[in-house]
Amino acid sequence: MLSDAIAALRCPVCQGICHLGEGPHRAILCSAGHVFDAAKQGYFNLLTGKGTVFEADSADMVAARQRFLDGGHYAELAGTIASLAAEAMKGPDPAVLDAGTGTGHYLHAVLHKTPAKAVGLDISKFALRRAARLNPQAANLVWDIWRPLPLADHSMDVVLVVFAPRNPPEFARVLRPGGTLLVVTPRPGHLAEAAERTGMLSIQEGKEAKLAETLSEHFLPGRTISLDIPLALDPGQLADLAFMGPAGHHLDSHKTPGTADGTESLDTTAKFQIGIFRSRETRP
Ligand SMILES: C[S@@+](CC[C@H](N)C(=O)[O-])C[C@H]1O[C@@H](n2cnc3c(N)ncnc32)[C@H](O)[C@@H]1O
Ligand SMILES: [Zn+2]
Repeated sequence: MLSDAIAALRCPVCQGICHLGEGPHRAILCSAGHVFDAAKQGYFNLLTGKGTVFEADSADMVAARQRFLDGGHYAELAGTIASLAAEAMKGPDPAVLDAGTGTGHYLHAVLHKTPAKAVGLDISKFALRRAARLNPQAANLVWDIWRPLPLADHSMDVVLVVFAPRNPPEFARVLRPGGTLLVVTPRPGHLAEAAERTGMLSIQEGKEAKLAETLSEHFLPGRTISLDIPLALDPGQLADLAFMGPAGHHLDSHKTPGTADGTESLDTTAKFQIGIFRSRETRP
C-alpha cells in the first residue's frame, strides 16, 4: 500500500519520519511539518531547492520507451527480474526500491509477482507520470540518485537498477542487512546492429569488471545471469528503441533513424546481464 511505502521514506529536508497526509489533497508529510504535495498524476516531487544538473528524459523519450516496453520485446527480462526479486523478498514485510524506475515497467512486473512495499525513484517527471499510473501502490518520487536517498536505513529487501545510475553507498544503507542489489546492464554487442543503423550509443568492453569493482566496497558479488533476446524490429519499433535510450537526447524524434525510406526491418539481439549482489552491511 502507498501509505506503507511512504512510512519507509525519510524527509529530504530534515530526515524526519514521513506519512501520507489525510484529506482530499494527497501529500507526504514529515514529523517536522514539511509537506510534499502529489502531482495530479500521482507522483511526488521531493527535489526541493535548486534544479538538478542532469538532463532528464524528455516526454518523447518516455513515450518511445513506453511503446517499446509495452510491445513485450523484453518480457523475458521482466520475468527474470520479477523471479529474482521474489526470491529476495521472502520475509514478512517485503520491500523494494526501483532506482531509475523510468515508466515503472520492471517494478510493475516485480509487484505483479510479489505484492510489496515499493518505492520508485526517477529524475524525469515525464517518466513518473506513467510510473504513477502503472504502479499506484508505489511511492513514485522525483529524486536524483546521486543525492542521499530519501529512505530509512535498512528498509528495503531489494534495490533494482535497470539501466540507470548507481549510488553504491546509499543502496547499501537503505538495504536490510544481507539485502539484494539487482543490476541490469547491457553486455558488449547489445543491439549492435541497431546501434550501427541508428546512431545509438554502443557498449564498451570491460564494463562487467568495472561494475563489480565499483560495488565491491559495499556488496559481495553473487551470480551473474546473461540473457540474450533476439529481436525482429519494424522501422517504428527501431525508432522507439533508438529514442528511448540516452541517444534520444540528441536524435530527431520526427525521423526514423537509419532507414532510407523508413520501411526496412532489422534483426538484432538484446544482450543483458543481471548482476546479483548481496549487501555487506551487518545489523548495527
Ligand atoms: C535508460 S532509462 C531506464 C528506465 C527503467 N529502469 C527501464 O529500464 O525502463 C534510465 C532512467 O534513469 C533516470 N535517471 C537518469 N539519471 C538519473 C538520476 N541522477 N537520478 C534519478 N534518475 C535518473 C532517467 O530519467 C531514466 O528514466
Ligand atoms: Zn522534514
